[in-house]
Amino acid sequence: MASPIELPWIEKYRPERLSDVIGQKEITSRLSNYVKNNTMPNLLFAGGAGIGKTSCAVALAKEFFGDSFSQNFLELNASNDRGIDVVRDTIKNFARTLAFNQGFKIIFLDESDALTFDAQQALRRTMERYSRTCRFILSANYSSKIIEPIQSRCVIFRFGQLSAKDIEERVGDVAKKEKVGIDESALKAIVYVCQGDMRKAINVLQASASVGEKITDKVIYEVSARARPEEIKEMMRLALSGKFLEARALLDKLIYEYGMSGEDVIVQMHRELVEMDENEVPGRTKIELIDKIGEYNFRMAEGANERVQLEALLAQFLKYKK
Ligand SMILES: Nc1ncnc2c1ncn2[C@@H]1O[C@H](COP(=O)(O)OP(=O)(O)O)[C@@H](O)[C@H]1O
Ligand SMILES: [Mg+2]
Repeated sequence: MASPIELPWIEKYRPERLSDVIGQKEITSRLSNYVKNNTMPNLLFAGGAGIGKTSCAVALAKEFFGDSFSQNFLELNASNDRGIDVVRDTIKNFARTLAFNQGFKIIFLDESDALTFDAQQALRRTMERYSRTCRFILSANYSSKIIEPIQSRCVIFRFGQLSAKDIEERVGDVAKKEKVGIDESALKAIVYVCQGDMRKAINVLQASASVGEKITDKVIYEVSARARPEEIKEMMRLALSGKFLEARALLDKLIYEYGMSGEDVIVQMHRELVEMDENEVPGRTKIELIDKIGEYNFRMAEGANERVQLEALLAQFLKYKK
């Protein structure tokens, strides 16, 4: 069982070396080549959350620097220290002294797409000025939010989401090391809720382990405030067959018992509707309902009452009663 002083498992099981990174094989092999040749360009790591961008940057620097890692590696999070001052001061201070025992230092700027346009301009000038002594690794969810002059100074690596198999294996591994019992259905549930994000997968596992019993899929859905896919489908089926009150009762359960937000519900409805079989929801109906889900999602994002919108959306389903 997890005790409060323990390291979060995501940190405890962060890959130390490039070869420990799961998936992303092409990327890690290219990065290893930089180490082998003792040279690297500026890099831009692009991709979603929890798939190994930070881990790769840290592991790469450790392999370059070994014992002098801490003198030669600077990590900044652009979304914490947002703005132009950080780029001007912290980076400059670090960048202007010579690398310790090495040809260059590495500056890792996490979530750099959160930097303002001005800060990115300043960063670009800094990258130019210190190009002899420093290499930059930028990470971003969207490379398109990085200004063109920076993009063109970097080699871009696109990180993909992790596969179901990779997630299952790693989570299974961590569970074994932490001696928590987890069944097959729970592993599948973790894969479903984390959607390729390994950080989320391991966090859900740790949160579920602290519940104290053997982990089942039920625990996973509770901990992550998700409905079983089957329940969401059932709610839509009821609405499609004209049973509005029953569909609404199920909606109550999702909101009041599971603590799901309106956004959670609508996102999951979208995901499950897309998956539903042609003989349950004919293609044409599906397309029109996806369009409706988009419309109601937008209304909620604009601030309309979630409960009212979700019921109104279920009412839309009734119009397609067979
Ligand atoms: N490819 C991966 N291989 C192994 N563990 C991973 C991987 N991606 C993420 N993790 C786990 O999730 C945590 C967060 O990953 P991180 O590299 O910070 O993700 P990102 O920077 O892409 O958001 C890591 O500490 C590790 O436990
Ligand atoms: Mg990161």
